[in-house]
Amino acid sequence: MLDYLPDQFTAVVTGAGGGIGQAMVNRLLESERPGRVIAVSRRDPEHEDSRVENLKVDVTTEQGRRLLGDRVNGDPIHLLFNAIGLLHDERRAISPEKRLEDLDAETLSTLFHVNAITPVLLIQTLVNSLKGRHPAIIASLSARVGSIGDNELGGWYGYRASKAAHNMFLRTAVVELARYNRQAIVLSLHPGTTDTGLSQPFQSRVPEGKLFTPDFVAERLLAVMEDRRPDESGSFWDWAGKPIPF
Ligand SMILES: NC(=O)c1ccc[n+]([C@@H]2O[C@H](COP(=O)([O-])OP(=O)(O)OC[C@H]3O[C@@H](n4cnc5c(N)ncnc54)[C@H](OP(=O)(O)O)[C@@H]3O)[C@@H](O)[C@H]2O)c1
Repeated sequence: MLDYLPDQFTAVVTGAGGGIGQAMVNRLLESERPGRVIAVSRRDPEHEDSRVENLKVDVTTEQGRRLLGDRVNGDPIHLLFNAIGLLHDERRAISPEKRLEDLDAETLSTLFHVNAITPVLLIQTLVNSLKGRHPAIIASLSARVGSIGDNELGGWYGYRASKAAHNMFLRTAVVELARYNRQAIVLSLHPGTTDTGLSQPFQSRVPEGKLFTPDFVAERLLAVMEDRRPDESGSFWDWAGKPIPF
């Protein structure tokens, strides 16, 4: 698994309480290769392997990111897998917009904060651990609907635009990170429609066989990461290993 990384590598998974994040932590732990897995979530820890450090913080806040930075304390990170993302939140009346009249400034701001700003601030928080001469993969979950080139359907303004901004933040960080670590690979990844809370309200429209389990997706995304090399840093891939246009 992830042969590009050294044996006993250190992984940080954010959104580790979400459907895909949790599956990724479980998949990592099925291998002997990771030596330390920092599972970051707002929820109570669920992983009990001795290699796991559960960190219960909200990294969408400055304080949460500071606590994560303190925990890592500048030690090298080989895998940063960000599985945080927001599409709908009934308690806050957030749901994908169908038409212009549905747009709401506060909702848009929340979506941008969680989906675009938080991922790049995570990289900012952990940059000293990503610098150096060690191989490092920084992968963050985007969504195909964030592809500007691929947008034929419209709708879902805030989610789409925040994922497009996510991709631009990552692509911009690539240029800088390449100066700090020639072995860093930064990737935007599309998991495919996955059976989690995020997709739950929209699953009835998913064609037969196209709703994936989180475990399948974690396995596929590990394979996609495994196939990448530093000259592909800053690219956008789907679960099947096909590139997606920005
Ligand atoms: N499921 C799909 O079909 C699909 C399709 C395309 C892209 N994606 C992307 O894949 C990623 C993972 O999604 P998922 O399907 O695993 O969804 P999920 O089960 O809802 O997990 C998302 C996680 O993001 C974190 N999060 C969400 N809202 C937050 C908020 N307001 N403040 C702080 N943290 C928040 C939470 O992490 P903690 O609970 O650990 O705190 C949450 O569990 C997302 O970026 C999503 O956009 C999913």
